[in-house]
Amino acid sequence: MTPEIAERLKLFDEDLVAFAPFVAAKDAIEENLQLFRETGVARHMLILGESGTGKTSLCDWVERINPPIHHEERDQIRVLIVRVPPAVSVGGIAEAFLNALGSFWAQRSSVPAKTKQIILLCRKCGVELILLDEAQHLKDRGDTKSQYLIADWLKFLLDELALPTVMLGLPRLEELLQTNEQLRRRFSRRVFLTLGQDDAGSVERECLQLFTSLALPLNLPVRRGPFNNTDFGCRLHYATDGRIAYIKKLLFAAFRKALLQDLQAIDIPLLAQAFTEEIWREGIGKLNPFNEQFVFRSLDRGGEPFERAHTGARRRGRA
Ligand SMILES: Nc1ncnc2c1ncn2[C@@H]1O[C@H](COP(=O)(O)OP(=O)(O)O)[C@@H](O)[C@H]1O
Ligand SMILES: [Mg+2]
Repeated sequence: MTPEIAERLKLFDEDLVAFAPFVAAKDAIEENLQLFRETGVARHMLILGESGTGKTSLCDWVERINPPIHHEERDQIRVLIVRVPPAVSVGGIAEAFLNALGSFWAQRSSVPAKTKQIILLCRKCGVELILLDEAQHLKDRGDTKSQYLIADWLKFLLDELALPTVMLGLPRLEELLQTNEQLRRRFSRRVFLTLGQDDAGSVERECLQLFTSLALPLNLPVRRGPFNNTDFGCRLHYATDGRIAYIKKLLFAAFRKALLQDLQAIDIPLLAQAFTEEIWREGIGKLNPFNEQFVFRSLDRGGEPFERAHTGARRRGRA
């Protein structure tokens, strides 16, 4: 691979595009931050989306817009991103907060001592917004008792901090809120990162738009023939479940192949190959959305790429 090709692939991988649900979620967060800065009122919200819908990228983007401010005495961390570890206990989540605040001393101390330290450091560091990424892990500890404890502790901490807080996670995160009515009330605002929420257009069209805006900077045409726009949008939706991570994977693989083989365009056979190699190895023939014989159904059955665990949570943005 030439350095020029490597550079083009890297730029493509890092580039962030402003697609509608992503921008809506970013605006909602900024609105809460602004409200807090102007009035001191702390509003909370949930941002929900399946894996690969852009939650972590959104946290990074918000942090990039509001970077730490360097002061002589201590830097001001305006946006505190806490990445919740898997199957976490109250002590574990308290430690994750402390680590995000740059403190590692508290590993052996009690939960009340850690909690006090979190509150103190958030004040000292001038935190204005908390983003709890992978927040579904707060409910993955299994037994209901731990979930009650975590929800109670979180409610207590957020009340003490009085800072706007966003929990970002998989849709099953909503189940955590079922265990604590007060926490549920505080997080009654929900924003979904899924495509298909725009009443004016179909999810397939949105998917095609997102694909097009990601493909635009590649400077390589995409030939969708023999399919028309509607058909191609529909196939893209089945191939990616409308998740940006999969759309990007598909394009990345097709783009890489095109560059390496010195092709003049990305075409349907290239996308079909990319689907099998990057998204689903068994996705061939009628199970490949870019094949003319495709069965036109969601690929979410057992063993398929978009298989979902049943959670009872509402599914949004599906065709
Ligand atoms: N707005 C965006 N523009 C371009 N790529 C994005 C955007 N949001 C997410 N991605 C890409 O999608 C992939 C998954 O994103 P990520 O934020 O990790 O999703 P999640 O946290 O929901 O699982 C990453 O490769 C990321 O670069
Ligand atoms: Mg993530």
